[in-house]
Amino acid sequence: MSVLFLKRFLQRPFQVASIIPSSKALVERVSSKMDFSEPRVIAEYGPGEGVHSREIARRMGPGSQLLLFELDPDFSRDLERQFGSDPRVHVINGDAAQLPEEMERLGIEQCDYIVSGIPFSILEIDKKRALLQKTYDSLAAGGAFIIYQVTNELRQHATLFENAESEYFLQNIPPMFITVFEKVHTRNGHSHPAMRHAARVPVNQSA
Ligand SMILES: C[S@@+](CC[C@H](N)C(=O)[O-])C[C@H]1O[C@@H](n2cnc3c(N)ncnc32)[C@H](O)[C@@H]1O
Repeated sequence: MSVLFLKRFLQRPFQVASIIPSSKALVERVSSKMDFSEPRVIAEYGPGEGVHSREIARRMGPGSQLLLFELDPDFSRDLERQFGSDPRVHVINGDAAQLPEEMERLGIEQCDYIVSGIPFSILEIDKKRALLQKTYDSLAAGGAFIIYQVTNELRQHATLFENAESEYFLQNIPPMFITVFEKVHTRNGHSHPAMRHAARVPVNQSA
């Protein structure tokens, strides 16, 4: 798995942006931010070779759905190989920005969580803003956008989310900021209680 990762990094260094996948500790930490006690719709941007996807799929119940958006065709093929027999998982070899079209195609109205490992910091500002808007619009009120990034620069751009909580997670090479952006308001402007997710777990305390 890591050999594939290194190969894809060498082929597309800016897009892949890391030479090794997320650590087990980071994967568990990111998944701990989500509440799997009910069926969930979860989208993942940039799953790579699927280290987070496998943990999410392991934790989520039978009525849940997981949409994987991966630009790289080799990673996508590998994800198809891993998840081809799991009807809850949809692999999309395409840009994360295709989320609204894919949701419509699959008859999905809203996502409960969107998890992202794509290198947002290298996206042009217009693309970054457009993707943030699509992400916000695709989430249910009470849902969350969860990112893990080397820098926390996205926080200054993601101001459309009503709440944000970050932690600096050292058990990964390199260390990462994990930020949970919460969407509170419904389409008609009412506020909605956030789902139980571990944004409220104090920094550096294991879930
Ligand atoms: C830093 S790697 C993270 C891989 C994996 N999630 C992990 O934690 O090990 C970033 C991944 O995002 C993918 N990617 C980059 N931009 C993307 C985009 N706009 N849409 C979908 N995938 C993208 C890359 O191909 C790469 O697989």
